[in-house]
Amino acid sequence: MSEKRNRIAIIGGGPGGYVAAICAAQLGGEVTLIEKDRLGGTCLNRGCIPTKSLLQSAGVLRQIERADTFGISIENLSFDYAKMRRRKEKVVQQLLKGIGFLMKKNNISVISGTGTIVKPGMVKVAGSEKMIEADKIIIATGSEPASIPIAGADRKGVISSDEAIDMEELPESMIIIGGGVIGVEFAQLFCRLKTRVAVIEMMPRLLPTEDAEIALILERKLTREGVAVYTDATVKEIGTNEKGEKVVTFSFKGEEKRLVAGKVLIAVGRRPCTENLGLEKLSLPLKKDRIVVNNRMETDIENIYAIGDVVGDVMLAHKSMAEGRCAAQNAMGIVSEMDYRAVPRCVYTSPEVAAVGLTEREAREKYGDIKIGKFPFRANGKALILDETDGMVKFIVEPRYGEVLGVGIIGPHATEMIGEAALGIKLEASFNDFASSIHAHPTLSEGLMEAALTVEGKSLHI
Ligand code: NAI
Repeated sequence: MSEKRNRIAIIGGGPGGYVAAICAAQLGGEVTLIEKDRLGGTCLNRGCIPTKSLLQSAGVLRQIERADTFGISIENLSFDYAKMRRRKEKVVQQLLKGIGFLMKKNNISVISGTGTIVKPGMVKVAGSEKMIEADKIIIATGSEPASIPIAGADRKGVISSDEAIDMEELPESMIIIGGGVIGVEFAQLFCRLKTRVAVIEMMPRLLPTEDAEIALILERKLTREGVAVYTDATVKEIGTNEKGEKVVTFSFKGEEKRLVAGKVLIAVGRRPCTENLGLEKLSLPLKKDRIVVNNRMETDIENIYAIGDVVGDVMLAHKSMAEGRCAAQNAMGIVSEMDYRAVPRCVYTSPEVAAVGLTEREAREKYGDIKIGKFPFRANGKALILDETDGMVKFIVEPRYGEVLGVGIIGPHATEMIGEAALGIKLEASFNDFASSIHAHPTLSEGLMEAALTVEGKSLHI
């Protein structure tokens, strides 16, 4: 007689949920994945993948506009947004097909519909009479765009990132409320595609949770490209004029200001999706709308786990995937704990912004005296070759043992380079490990080595 398999039900098929499903299936679980929309969640359908595809198109356009710098003349340059959108959709479709294939390959049963936990061990799928019995349940329902409690936020033409990524036509002008990750990525995207863009951010700078110096370099770059940036600004209301355009009233530097645009994009954060899950009946407590979990992704109710955006804090696809693996392992009886010290944070603007570990401010608050090492890309050969010299690498180092606490990068391909820093932090590397590791020449990654060398003032190239 074969042993009874562990039945795992996962609600939500985004990067957290589908990765949890694969992992649980690989460990021998009998897995059911319940998804009410398309597999891939926000990341694949409305977030990471489509925005980066469009940003790539906008980046290519920008590169061609600067072709003269590289000795190439181009005349009659034009672009077709419909084609850019089709390409984006093709990328999404290909990845979607890939997830479908992975589900089949791993014998995961995918059920379409909204899942509600009737009681521990039992999930009902709305729209079908199906009741799914499970030994363990993993909640991976993600998040949705948050709005702001101001007059006019629900007007026609006031959109969220879900709609911004799907616009059939580019607006002539756009006001973006919120200068966080979504705000700056969309600002650069639409600005490069010739929409007049303004960003209104309530904090004193863009990307307020990131390193101040790095955020200011990005702000300068966006401003130079033509984005109007208003920081320390409080939005009061969104009205409309006789032409149907949106009018945003906000206070800025002690004055009341008004800006007019075809569309207003609200990008002020996301909120976890906890509706229809049956949490009230289960008496599963929420904290700031989020499901509370421990480091093993266990909720307060035995055999119910939660992962990804629905548990909040940082809402990043790769964090969700890591949590999905962790929850699946625990659900399958392998003890696993999350380690959040080395979660990379990436912004896909140009220059890209990427960071891992503590920011300078966080490190000072925690450790007091710290050491800093910085290296600018203008002294890096590869950055000069690329003609992308804006930016730097910054090391934040614990003074006694030299352990690297954080790394921030703003520059070309920063989001690729941050992987080295993430591995270093995970392995508790010292700045000397980075400084003495041989980096290929000419590469941008030499910037990491040089920044590590500057911690003790020994940089070779500045
Ligand atoms: P966010 O939290 O990054 O930024 C929201 C911004 O809006 C903050 O700067 C905040 O100060 C500002 N804000 C809040 N209320 C405001 C108001 N009334 N007026 C003006 N400004 C206001 O959230 P965002 O950009 O919406 O992104 C949501 C989530 O999606 C984040 O967790 C983010 O990490 C994730 N995401 C990640 C991406 C990536 O990894 N590249 C890309 C896009 C989103």
